[in-house]
Amino acid sequence: MEEKVKIRIDGKDFEMPIIIGTEGERAIDISRLRKETGLITLDPGFVNTGSCLSSITFMDGEKGILRYRGIPVEQLAEKSTFVETAFLLINGRLPTRTELTRFSVLLNDHSLVHEDMRHFFDNFPRGAHPMGILSSMVNALRAFYPEIPERSEEEEIDITVTRLLSKVRTMAAMSYRISRGHKVVYPRQEYTYAANFLNMMFDTPVRPYQVDENFVRALNVFWILHADHEQNCSTAAVRLVGSARVNLYAAISAGICALWGPLHGGANQSVIEMLNSILESGGNVKPFLAKASDRNDPFRLMGFGHRVYKTFDPRGKIMKKLCHDILNKLNQKDPLLDIALELEEAALKDPYCIDHNLYPNVDFYAGIVLRAIGIPLNMFTVLFAIGRLPGWISQWKESMEDPNWKLHRPRQIYMGEKAIDYIPINERK
Ligand code: ACO
Repeated sequence: MEEKVKIRIDGKDFEMPIIIGTEGERAIDISRLRKETGLITLDPGFVNTGSCLSSITFMDGEKGILRYRGIPVEQLAEKSTFVETAFLLINGRLPTRTELTRFSVLLNDHSLVHEDMRHFFDNFPRGAHPMGILSSMVNALRAFYPEIPERSEEEEIDITVTRLLSKVRTMAAMSYRISRGHKVVYPRQEYTYAANFLNMMFDTPVRPYQVDENFVRALNVFWILHADHEQNCSTAAVRLVGSARVNLYAAISAGICALWGPLHGGANQSVIEMLNSILESGGNVKPFLAKASDRNDPFRLMGFGHRVYKTFDPRGKIMKKLCHDILNKLNQKDPLLDIALELEEAALKDPYCIDHNLYPNVDFYAGIVLRAIGIPLNMFTVLFAIGRLPGWISQWKESMEDPNWKLHRPRQIYMGEKAIDYIPINERK
């Protein structure tokens, strides 16, 4: 029998159905609330609001579970590649060997960027943040690759998806090269997705880049861990902008802009900046914990806390292990890792952090992994964006295919002036 909830408003009873997800999550379906009662709900930050039904990613914030299409992220991080995980997210199942080969070949075939687009890169000021460059360039892709009316909608989506996955990686590397005044390195057929990216970033005519398989593996794991995270801020932005039926490039560009923020994807850069300031101030983590718990101080521990995870972030655990593994393999030490470990240990015992459920999230150890690979600080969030791309694309596709699709348009409760008359300028005080 369908479960229902009763609401009494002004003495009148209304019934709303309860929706139950495959993992037992329950939600009150209020889609008829306004029509039937005249009332709306108010939920700043959408803390209690489900915006869609989705079959892509499951997460349980209390148990620290994350699964893509049902598969635990731990298994994917250990056994899969980023390209295979992207296929899984976008198509809803793991590929056969033939499908995976075809997908990888297509990603290579589409990896070049229109030569005219390169002039755009030249005109961004030196030092411009690569996230700003990337979001502009992704939006500009539509101008260079317009829709072809003869193609079916399905073909058009397929080619746009492949282009995006492939070209965003090329454009990310290009923006880095150009920002340093270096010559652009083209993608090469013989490299895998991650190896190609590393080569485009670091190869030089004087010193050919030797692709290190440890880096390739680390990058694959990094991207898999970031590949989707259900209705986070940037994905919600992609769905919202996409709901106006804009093209996929524009919707993804909106996602990149949202991800840039330090409370979201920009946190991986902010964590390193915070760890550096702890190091520069002598390495004592205590004053930073004190600042974080001071209500009069806006400072937050970057890389700690999460809207959904309230016990631990499973991605954070894998990232921490990856961090140790890569530094061990390289036989390297990073002073920021020592600070990070100390900060984590102190935070886990700190009453404020315990009270506020503050645990390291995916971003806390991510930056140390990227530093080990040689990725510069201002590219960290770009790396996150490449990783999140399959998630954004699959969420956009799912919303476009939703039979109950609606333009996203929240309401508000107006708290401003009641109607007042316009005052001509010479009569104003
Ligand atoms: N440091 C100090 N205090 C914190 C932190 C933090 N990192 N995170 C939350 N709090 C405190 C808030 O000050 C608030 O305290 P109060 O109730 O005493 O006023 C309380 O915890 C709740 O904070 P909210 O911002 O309402 O919680 P929310 O669930 O929205 O926060 C967020 C999630 C934005 C990620 C937050 O934990 C944060 O700012 N973390 C630091 C930035 C970061 O690491 N972002 C990456 C998140 S993962 C990702 O997007 C990939």
